[in-house]
Amino acid sequence: MRKILIIGIGAGDPDFLTVQAINALNRVDVFFIPDKGEEKAALRHLRNNICDRFIRGRSYRTVEAPIPARRAAGDDYRGTVHDWHEEISRLYERFIMEELGDGKCGGALVWGDPALYDSTLRILDRLQRKGCAFDVEIIPGISAIQVLAARHRIALNTIGRPVLITTGRKLAADFSGDVDSVVVMLDGEQAFKRVQAEGVDIFWGAYLGTPDEILIAGKLSEVSGKIERIRREAREKHGWIMDTYLLRKTGGD
Ligand SMILES: C[S@@+](CC[C@H](N)C(=O)[O-])C[C@H]1O[C@@H](n2cnc3c(N)ncnc32)[C@H](O)[C@@H]1O
Repeated sequence: MRKILIIGIGAGDPDFLTVQAINALNRVDVFFIPDKGEEKAALRHLRNNICDRFIRGRSYRTVEAPIPARRAAGDDYRGTVHDWHEEISRLYERFIMEELGDGKCGGALVWGDPALYDSTLRILDRLQRKGCAFDVEIIPGISAIQVLAARHRIALNTIGRPVLITTGRKLAADFSGDVDSVVVMLDGEQAFKRVQAEGVDIFWGAYLGTPDEILIAGKLSEVSGKIERIRREAREKHGWIMDTYLLRKTGGD
C-alpha cells in the first residue's frame, strides 16, 4: 500500500518543526511540491531548505506540480472551490499513482497546520472516496494563529469565552452579536476596516516566524490606518504578504 504523510511544517520558521515532523520527513521517498507561482517562491524555497536541513542519510526525490489558479468565485464560492479542488486532486492522483511505487511513502509539506484553511486533507479524502488506494498519516504543525498569539504574548480567548476563526471575506458577518474574539486569516482586503472600530483591539502580524516579521497591536480605531499603510509597503517590497490578526472587543478580561 502507498502511504502519504501530510506534514505540518509550521508557519514560517524552520525551528517550528516538531520532532514528529522531522521523523516523518525522514520516512518520505518522494515529496510532492505544489508550485503556486512566483508570489509563493519564497515559501517554496523554505520548503526546500527544510528538506536540506532535516533529512539525514537518505535519498529522496521531489516532484513539482504547477497548481492552477482558482478562477474568480463570483456568486458561487463553494462551487468554484469544488471545481478547483477537483483539478488539484487530479495532480495528486497522478503523483500517487505514477510517481510512487507500491509500498513507497510520499510526502506533502503543509504550511502551518494541515487542519486549518488548507485543502490538502479534503483533496486526499476526495481521491480515496473515488477509489484511489493509499494510507494517509497527518503530522500536526504550529499554525500562524499560535505564532501570532505567542509573538503578541496574549491568550486568544478571554476567560471562559470562545474564539472564532474566520476569513476576511466572512469577517463583517461573523464579528457580531455575542462573538468577542475573532481570528482572521486569508484577508486580502483588510476587512478590519469594515468593522465597527470603537471598543475593539487588534493584534496584527505579517510574515510571522520569518526574518521579515511585522507586529502591530493597539486600538483598532488608532492603528487601522497604520496597518493598512505598512501592509501595502511590505507587500510592494516583497511581492507577497501573509498576515493574520486577532480582533477583540475591549473589556473581556
Ligand atoms: C491558506 S491559509 C494556511 C494556514 C495554515 N495552514 C496555518 O495553519 O497557519 C494562509 C493564511 O494563513 C495566515 N498565515 C499563514 N502563515 C502566516 C505567517 N507566517 N504570518 C502571518 N500570517 C500567516 C494568513 O492569514 C494566510 O492568508
